[in-house]
Amino acid sequence: MQKVPFAKVACTGNELKYVTEVLESGWLTTAGKAQAFEHKFAEKLGVKYACAVNSCTAALHLGLEALGVQSGDKVFVPAMTFTASAEVIRYLNADPVLLDVEYGTNLITPKILEDAIAKNPDVKYLVVVHFGGHAAEMKNENKNGIMDICCRHGIKILEDAAHAFPSRLGDQMVGSFGDITCFSFYANKTITTGEGGMLTTNNEEFYRRVKVMRLHGINRDIWDRFTSDKPSWEYDVVAPGYKYNMPDVNAAIGLAQLEQADLFREERQKAVDYYFEQLNNIECLDLPICKVKNSDHSWHLFPVVLNDSAHISRNEFIEKMADLGIGTSVHYKPLHHMTYYKETYNLDSADYPNAERVWKGTVSLPLYPFMDLEDLKYVCESVISILASEKDLI
Ligand SMILES: Cc1ncc(COP(=O)(O)O)c(C=O)c1O
Repeated sequence: MQKVPFAKVACTGNELKYVTEVLESGWLTTAGKAQAFEHKFAEKLGVKYACAVNSCTAALHLGLEALGVQSGDKVFVPAMTFTASAEVIRYLNADPVLLDVEYGTNLITPKILEDAIAKNPDVKYLVVVHFGGHAAEMKNENKNGIMDICCRHGIKILEDAAHAFPSRLGDQMVGSFGDITCFSFYANKTITTGEGGMLTTNNEEFYRRVKVMRLHGINRDIWDRFTSDKPSWEYDVVAPGYKYNMPDVNAAIGLAQLEQADLFREERQKAVDYYFEQLNNIECLDLPICKVKNSDHSWHLFPVVLNDSAHISRNEFIEKMADLGIGTSVHYKPLHHMTYYKETYNLDSADYPNAERVWKGTVSLPLYPFMDLEDLKYVCESVISILASEKDLI
């Protein structure tokens, strides 16, 4: 039996109440709850538009389509991410150009981006991943942040904020920076709808396109055509769109989770503070680097790296943790190690030295809201005893 799981959903608010309202309404798919969720999410981020969809992958696909990515285009994307960030580029028959990431944050930095642009001047799109909930350096005081660089080179940005709600950079929330941002509400994320996602933008043209493409390319909101008293059957199809809408049952859960988002973030931070306090003196363990204010990080993940001085491998470490009943995960096996990307693009690991270093030793520790102090203690004591060198054990 697992004593401490890797992730655990907290449904501690109005989830049941709002879902019951949907069930009793007699209308289970997209309607008022999804609209309310969009409205409140946009309000929380301080953006004009939010579009609820059935996954972050769907949001990323819609986002790239709205930005105008076409067959044969090239799109920068970090090697150290989940396949969804890159597969959506292939949905549009465009090609990913993988970038190495910074060791410690797993982020694309302005420097990494500038070097990549110098080598690939024909790339006109970038997918930025706010890894683990840490905002990438979109802006900085020197006017040399990722957005500034992209603006100078005519590169459009899609932000993958699957991990990053609620995250901030300075006085702005992630979701309010670039052209389009996409969030995930998958079951283990910082807030969940079971499965679901949200796309945010301040650009009306992108918003209109996404709304049409989200539901079959139909030219108007049609959810009320089944519930309205007045005849409203007529609609037109203006593009071959997708079926990506978020049902109200999921949106109801999302609304309740959104109400608790700040509490959940604080709870995650408590666990993270404990990890930093207990694990910071282990020579063979590199802890994540936080370059933003601790409280601006959404702490979806706490990825540590067993460095070269560790006496066991990452895989052995994971097995020992599992034997002690502790769930862990790996974020990520980088994309250049995945058969599809490796073979299609003939990728060489030597081009991604930091991602390689991370991949060799990375493991994510359990992290979720309301983690028991006893469980946290148990995880830390287990990590320390597994990593203690043979000399220490004598
Ligand atoms: C970085 C990243 N992007 C995108 C996704 C896709 O999210 P979803 O499962 O909501 O489609 C994930 C899922 O874990 C992710 O980690």
